[in-house]
Amino acid sequence: MTTQDQLKKAVGERAASLVKDGMKIGLGSGSTVYWLVRALGERIKQEGIQIEGIPSSIQTGEWAKEFGVPLTDFAATKELDVTIDGSDEVDPDFHLIKGGGAALFREKIIAQAAQKLIIIVDESKMVAQLGAFALPVEILPFSWERTAHEIEKLGCVPVLRLKDGAPLVTDNGNYIVDCPFEKINDPADLDNKLQQIVGVVETGLFIDMADAVIIGSSEGVTIKEK
Ligand code: 5RP
Repeated sequence: MTTQDQLKKAVGERAASLVKDGMKIGLGSGSTVYWLVRALGERIKQEGIQIEGIPSSIQTGEWAKEFGVPLTDFAATKELDVTIDGSDEVDPDFHLIKGGGAALFREKIIAQAAQKLIIIVDESKMVAQLGAFALPVEILPFSWERTAHEIEKLGCVPVLRLKDGAPLVTDNGNYIVDCPFEKINDPADLDNKLQQIVGVVETGLFIDMADAVIIGSSEGVTIKEK
């Protein structure tokens, strides 16, 4: 396992240790969340805690089944106690860039549904300013070129994300464009402008949503609260 994977495992396990019996949990997506789901499965087996999760991607749902984490959905549950998710960038105000795994839309739904959003990252994700990681934006396939053209007017050249030589299709049947803004001076303003473009389904900017960040570094695991 690489050092970065060890840090992801450490923060995933720490987050799992904070979950309380009876909680309904939003389960994010990505390689850090893998360790969270695995550790939750362990706690269910060892301690018999009763929890239910709503996954933000098909992949996370499969991990939950593999590790024995019971699932529910928004037909049965409208509010979550906590959502735990990874991130691609976290700035000093806890604004986030997410969507590296193309799951940003469902991730934002489970983030908004939760009383508390906890982000789990290794230290490489902590940045002074958002934007070095190209911002993922989920867009409708219909006339995606026009949507990308409108996004370009905001100061980047969007790149359609591909998989095996064809456009990557999200769990929601949409496309992703990765937008290399490089430096995002006003994340809330950019998010507002992107949301106004017809064809944009959701952006990977998570503004004022995170309540705590669990960071793994060579020094150990630190929890920062807002
Ligand atoms: C998926 C995400 C992930 O949380 C983000 O990409 C971080 O992933 P990882 O834990 O694999 O580094 O936003 O859409």
